[in-house]
Amino acid sequence: MSKYLEERVTEVRHWTDTLFSFRTTRDQSFRFRNGEFTMIGIEVDGKPLVRAYSVVSANYDDELEFFSIKVPDGPLTSRLQHLKVGDPILVGRKATGTLVIDNLLPGKHLYLLGTGTGLAPFLSIIKDPEAYERFDKVVLVHGCRHVNELAYGEMITEDLPKDELIGELIREKLIYYPTVTREPFRNRGRITDLMTSGKLFEDIGLPAMSIENDRFMLCGSPDMIRDTRQLLDGLGYVEGNHGEAGHFVIEKAFAEK
Ligand code: A2P
Repeated sequence: MSKYLEERVTEVRHWTDTLFSFRTTRDQSFRFRNGEFTMIGIEVDGKPLVRAYSVVSANYDDELEFFSIKVPDGPLTSRLQHLKVGDPILVGRKATGTLVIDNLLPGKHLYLLGTGTGLAPFLSIIKDPEAYERFDKVVLVHGCRHVNELAYGEMITEDLPKDELIGELIREKLIYYPTVTREPFRNRGRITDLMTSGKLFEDIGLPAMSIENDRFMLCGSPDMIRDTRQLLDGLGYVEGNHGEAGHFVIEKAFAEK
């Protein structure tokens, strides 16, 4: 049996010159936990060309959604960016990853810190009713260079609060904090700096960081991951994984070279 399911593209959205997302059909047999990734791609010269992609949709959605950068000479994304509705796409039969709430110790506030396409796994998690059962507040921080890279912002602020299933939880418990580093915007600066200065917590009206109450999930560029991990390590937070739950968990965002 092939390692991949053959699905079809049902929708494509181009956010910017370098960012796009797409939806696909979902085989009944494909199961995942919110926050996980799977291998997806296309067949090239009779062979699968695949990369790891976080699933953007929630595990109860009928379709799958993925969020991708476009790298002009990237073997996969240079092709994927031309996807059209109806095209075939390979989706791995298994999903995995460390960004799942089971890998975190109980706490009050769940901070989802993503840069660029590192937002993807968190879009799945903010649609998970269990995230709101376990935490009083879920804070989604999305850091980008430019305002137009803040993809999904409207969906988060306009559509999700009206959602039949989780709208109420979103309205009561989700805090969305987009921040931009290279042009004017209402929130400015790197996630690490906003944490160190305490501005993030002041802006959203939550208490200063504490090991007792706060849990973190990080997904983004290797530099952002390294620096945020260092910050949390320095404060005594312990990284969690499948073996043992911790105060924070980490996954690098997909980056095709
Ligand atoms: P900056 O513009 O100051 O580099 P990228 O597109 O390079 O992946 O970056 C996405 C966002 O992550 C940008 O806002 C960028 O800020 C920020 N960023 C890059 N490196 C770090 C880091 N080491 N710590 C925190 N944020 C970072």
